[in-house]
Amino acid sequence: MTNTQTMDKIVALAKRRGFFYPGSDLYGGLANTYDYGPMGTELLRNIKNLWWDSFVTKRADMVGLDASIVSHHRIWEASGHVATFADAMVDCKNCRTRLRADHLIEDATGKNVEGLPLEELDMIIEENNIKCPNCGKHEWTKVRKFNLLFPIQLGLVEGEGGSAYLRGETAQGMFINFQNVLNSTRVKLPFGIGQIGKSFRNEITPGNSIFRTIEFEQGEIEYFFDEKKTDWEALFNSWKESMWEFVTKKLGVRAENLRWRAHTDEERSFYSKKTEDLEYQFPFGFKELWGLAYRTNYDLSQHQEFSKKDLTVTDPQTGEKTLPHVIEPAVGINRLMLTVLADAYTEEENRTVLKLSPRLSPVKAAVFPLLANKPELTDKAREVFKMVQNNISGKVQWDDRGNIGKRYLAQDEIGTPYSITIDFQTLEDNAVTVRDRDSAQQERVSITDLVSYLHQKLV
Ligand code: GAP
Repeated sequence: MTNTQTMDKIVALAKRRGFFYPGSDLYGGLANTYDYGPMGTELLRNIKNLWWDSFVTKRADMVGLDASIVSHHRIWEASGHVATFADAMVDCKNCRTRLRADHLIEDATGKNVEGLPLEELDMIIEENNIKCPNCGKHEWTKVRKFNLLFPIQLGLVEGEGGSAYLRGETAQGMFINFQNVLNSTRVKLPFGIGQIGKSFRNEITPGNSIFRTIEFEQGEIEYFFDEKKTDWEALFNSWKESMWEFVTKKLGVRAENLRWRAHTDEERSFYSKKTEDLEYQFPFGFKELWGLAYRTNYDLSQHQEFSKKDLTVTDPQTGEKTLPHVIEPAVGINRLMLTVLADAYTEEENRTVLKLSPRLSPVKAAVFPLLANKPELTDKAREVFKMVQNNISGKVQWDDRGNIGKRYLAQDEIGTPYSITIDFQTLEDNAVTVRDRDSAQQERVSITDLVSYLHQKLV
């Protein structure tokens, strides 16, 4: 099976089983948008809850934030997004396909050219005689910059007063609320602010399904510290460890499919002292999953200058003022979802299984009466269903459609760890058959022990 086939199969399963569908599907679709179905919604929620729990709830040095998506144009002028948040694009003059120049070159030559000047990209396209992947011609416009921010006009206010942007990253919400958080809570340096929320980018290139979309969710942290008192390299490494642990231990992604990649000088932002990406080996190659950047105090100093407000922190002991530096771990929640789906996707001789960590599974257990038309079985199965539903955390699914084999296959494809069948023997011995998703092995478990059995297994 080729990598493209694998990706196609994951996308087909996602649609077939309700993880995600093309956006605006009923009207022929809208490029680079997706809608998340019943299973996808549960999976996203489980990922977000784990992220929030690990990085905000369970850390004494972190607090949460939920800033507005619609935001003042000055924020994005100060942050540099209005001037520089742009992709290098090139158009095919023959078939009018518009592509990201770095992606075109990378696909044709395997070289990473992110951050190179436009003229150099033109030269590489020429020298390598790169052809349009759509029509096969080599008839390109010059490479041009295309800004990714979505400007919006508010209400009836004309001109500057009504001009705003949909946020292009959640990060700026943390910077512009830095003083608010400092003044309204008991935090002191070093501390971090974490946020999960939607961001919007006018991405042109159709990505690999939900890998790159125009509307997506980010989980970002700005970790503020006094650079005179903190060893930033040690802090950077401790965040690397936390990110690695989250992906491998909490999400259960296989370590052999992950690697770190340091940004080259060309691709690193001028204000960043160090940036590394945690990359995952998707079916279409190793790509950025989670970025980690030491951004110095660039953002706070820009907002201080543009807003003319003092954003410094005063040391209570020495009275010394400092403008904190930040280390920023920034991940896409939807990209985490694609990662866990790709990592869990398994084809076996007679079935396709999503071997998701039970923590992530959209449905934790399914309950089936062996036959749907036997009230003695369905009554008992309803009793078991209610008991399980009331006593384990997460979704429990009832299924009495089709035969047991089909029900197992459906649960395997959504990654349900345990399927419980109530049969005629249950009415005699008060025990059920529990089938394990990964091994497909079945065992009899007494109904009295069922909840504690599931508690032990679903950790
Ligand atoms: N504040 C820094 C920042 O936003 P980024 O590398 O542009 O950095 C962070 O984005 C993460 O957000 C990426 O590592 C990726 O997981 C996710 N991401 C970025 N653009 C995305 C898009 N168009 N669609 C889905 N996820 C995206």
